[in-house]
Order: sequence, then C-alpha cells, then structure tokens
Amino acid sequence: MLHLAVFASGRGSNLESIAHAISRGNLDAEIVLVLSNNSTSGALDFAREHGIPAVHLSSKTNPDPEDFVSRMKSELKNRGVDFIALAGYMKKVPPDVVNIYANRITNIHPALLPAFGGKGMYGLNVHKAVLESGARITGVTVHIVTNDYDVGPIVAQECIPVWDGDTPESLASRVLELEHRLYPEALQLFAQDRITVNGLRTIHQPPA
Ligand code: GRF
Repeated sequence: MLHLAVFASGRGSNLESIAHAISRGNLDAEIVLVLSNNSTSGALDFAREHGIPAVHLSSKTNPDPEDFVSRMKSELKNRGVDFIALAGYMKKVPPDVVNIYANRITNIHPALLPAFGGKGMYGLNVHKAVLESGARITGVTVHIVTNDYDVGPIVAQECIPVWDGDTPESLASRVLELEHRLYPEALQLFAQDRITVNGLRTIHQPPA
C-alpha cells in the first residue's frame, strides 16, 4: 500500500483518476497529501471536497528557498508519505526531496519520451511539436523523477495513432484519456513492489 502525495498545479484530472482507481480497488494506495503551487488549482479543490489534506506551497507562501524546502519535507514526513506522484506539477521538485524519495517519485508526460520532452515541453506545446514532427504515433509516458526534466527511467508507456486532421487539442484530449488509465496502473506496479531501478532502466517483476 502506497502512502501517496500527489503534486499538481492545474485542473487535477489525473489526481481524480488516481483517487477513482483507489476507490474502485484497482490501486492499493491512500492519498495522504495533495500539494500544489497554485492556490486556485482544481487539484486542491478536489482534495478539499474529498477530505484529503491539501497544501498550497509556493514561493509566495514560503519566499525563502530553504524555508520552502523544509516546509515541503515536513509536510511529507508528517503525513507519512512514502511515494510522490507528480500529476501536472509545473515546478521542479527540490533536489533534497528527490534524494530522500529516490526512485519513489513518478511523473506523467503526455508524449512518448525520450522524444518531445524537456524544458518547455508541457501542455499544448507537446502536441504541437508531435504534429509538426510528422510522427504517426504519440502517447503517454510514466517515468521516475530525477533532477533533470523528463529523463528518468521509464516505467510505463502506451501509444495511440496520430490521425490526419488531428489538432493539438484533439491529440491532448485522446492522450489525456490514456493518461487516466495508465497512471493508476503504473502506480499499482509500485504498490505491488514490482519495480526496481537499474541505472536508466526499470525492471518489472511479473504479477504474483
Ligand atoms: C497532463 O497532460 C499531464 O500529462 C501533464 O500535465 C497534464 C495535467 O493534467 N504532466 P491534469 O491537471 O491532471 O488534468
């Protein structure tokens, strides 16, 4: 069972899909903390509506960088967090926290890494780049978070076709549907202790 913190900056639809997977019994986890840098994020609203501890932490709430990191660490520790799922979190996780939770932080990216990742590759930018490249498939990647953007070991990927006539918006919405299924499935691999990390690769144990 994972004691999960979900970090999110925006509407929070991946947070919702994780919460639904838990309530349907498809993910052995409890969300013990939702943390956002954005006080108006849908993710914080969802957490409050569902009785999940919700924390707004940003350079506005905690302007001093050291204070920011120590508040993040104490929120995680006080809630007994043992795994962090980034779900549309638009800030870098401080290196201190990445080290404490080594191989225990995942991110979901709306394309097939290692293509279409890195700085600036978020939101519709990703889908625009996919269309401009002429790629015939795109998809979703769940990967482990390291100190660099989008380059950590890949845990799960799935692809969908790019159709003629697709727009960045139509791709975003088909990819998002896939995200909502894949992220809880990938987290369940960790809940079942089936993932180990070896350098840049993840090793998957078969189901028990
Ligand atoms: C998703 O597309 C995710 O892949 C990306 O940010 C978006 C977050 O969407 N990292 P939501 O806030 O979960 O609805």
